[in-house]
Amino acid sequence: MSVIPEDQNLEILIVFTSESGNTKKVVNMLQKELELKKYSVTVKNALTTTEEHLHDADLVLIGTPVHGYILFGQKPADAVRKMLDTGLPKDLHQKRFIGFATYLFFPAATLNRVKNAIISRNGKYLSSFSNRRSKKEALAKEITEYIIHLQAPS
Ligand SMILES: Cc1cc2nc3c(=O)[nH]c(=O)nc-3n(C[C@H](O)[C@H](O)[C@H](O)COP(=O)(O)O)c2cc1C
Repeated sequence: MSVIPEDQNLEILIVFTSESGNTKKVVNMLQKELELKKYSVTVKNALTTTEEHLHDADLVLIGTPVHGYILFGQKPADAVRKMLDTGLPKDLHQKRFIGFATYLFFPAATLNRVKNAIISRNGKYLSSFSNRRSKKEALAKEITEYIIHLQAPS
């Protein structure tokens, strides 16, 4: 059975941060591919995302680079961590979220930080996606296909 009714017009919000442009490129590809599939897509920087932006969305994608010390301490970039810590409403009322990340070596538990923040506020965390910064197209494609599948008929 499809997770989201087939006929629902899905409003997608992509919240992201990007320091050197890799995650932003994935965001741009996602926006383009999802709009081609007739989804309504809004893109916001994590630093300027407010509760109202979240309120209007049916599905929220949170994108971040992996920041750490190569072998340990992997986490989302500051702007995304700040949004997770202080920018989310206390109750997300089962709103659906997906996390994604670009990295150079490995992502470790970076997206668990996103997942835990969403679940602890009563959000529904659907899935995590990550890939090397050299595989941006593959990452965008994988996420797009997952979203399309959410509304696919059984
Ligand atoms: C401060 C800093 C720390 C990083 N730490 C890691 C790391 O621990 N593991 C890893 O795989 N990549 C690490 N990277 C690489 C980034 O995750 C990767 O280049 C990412 O695609 C950057 O995304 P952006 O261009 O959107 O900022 C680090 C990059 C920076 C700038």
